[in-house]
Amino acid sequence: MTWLKLVEGYMPMQMIAELTLCILFFAALNYMLKKAGMGIPKFWAGIGVWVFIQLYLKYRIYPPLPFSIRAIYGTVSLCGIFMWVSGSQAEWEEFRRPILDVLDGKTPLHRAVRAVLLVALPIGLGAFAFNSFKPSFEEPIELRTVHPAPPATTKVHGKTYVLQVAQNPYRVNKEGKYDQEYTNAHITEQAMGRLMKSLGPEDNPWNPNAEGYIKYVREGGEIFFQNCHFCHGDNLNGRGLWAYAFNPIPANFTDAGTIAQLQETFVFWRVAKGGIGLPGEGFPWASVMPPWEQHLTVDEIWKVIMFEYWHTGYYPRTWD
Ligand code: HEC
Repeated sequence: MTWLKLVEGYMPMQMIAELTLCILFFAALNYMLKKAGMGIPKFWAGIGVWVFIQLYLKYRIYPPLPFSIRAIYGTVSLCGIFMWVSGSQAEWEEFRRPILDVLDGKTPLHRAVRAVLLVALPIGLGAFAFNSFKPSFEEPIELRTVHPAPPATTKVHGKTYVLQVAQNPYRVNKEGKYDQEYTNAHITEQAMGRLMKSLGPEDNPWNPNAEGYIKYVREGGEIFFQNCHFCHGDNLNGRGLWAYAFNPIPANFTDAGTIAQLQETFVFWRVAKGGIGLPGEGFPWASVMPPWEQHLTVDEIWKVIMFEYWHTGYYPRTWD
């Protein structure tokens, strides 16, 4: 009904007024039909009014009412209808006559209805209940958010990190200051299997005299090859030895859809808390990603993350 809008703020009043008008209209209609000798039996009038109210609540009211609310209104209106049909002894007798007729099996038609109600209906309901309890062999649908919204803070080894302001303490320039620009300039090329850009000996992680950033990258690499490569693969492409045993499969860091589009602190939180630390949207938590806070120190986590960025040639996303 788009031509008759529900006025915001007056919706309940409008609903009651509309329902009252409709019921009055039915009453008047019934009165006239009765005058003409075609009155509607009480039983059917009661059912009709009740069904009308249910349809009204379902299709007229917007936004849609939840089923539980309609169930409450349905019960209340049922009580009202019972009060109406049992107003006097004669009316009550008139209302219940069709029910008694069916139960007594007065005519063949009544007997047929009785058979349906007492035999077919329970069987149907039983079949329905059986079907809904029967275990299904279909795999349940798994909807999973790969990158759920991170929490504002995360507590690792007793220290609280605010993800918006936390920084990787090893992402430092020559002066030892946090400097994402500097470290971005010293990563490998953005493709797997290619040689590193040769910027100089200070960019060679195998250089035993390497200092600062590139030395921490090497340390992160050691951590990676001791802990992560089984799953995430020697080339960080998610093709580790064990990778195919798991669903979801380990993240492919060379894919632009993983660490490349994440803030470094998000990755820190993910590595520290692992698959079981995922929030509700990460359901069903089937990820085997271990909660690394149980095995690595905070420093080791920061270093291994830096290694992952360095090796794949991606920059962590900044808070934009
Ligand atoms: C037992 C296998 C396994 C090991 C070992 C493992 N991971 Fe994972 N990791 C996974 C799986 C599976 C996923 C993908 C599912 C998910 O998002 O949780 C994942 C996801 C990740 C992600 C999230 C990427 C994203 O796009 O959200 C990061 C970061 C990560 N791992 C880092 C690490 C680091 C660092 C280590 C080593 C310290 C490591 N993983 C070791 C299995 C593993």
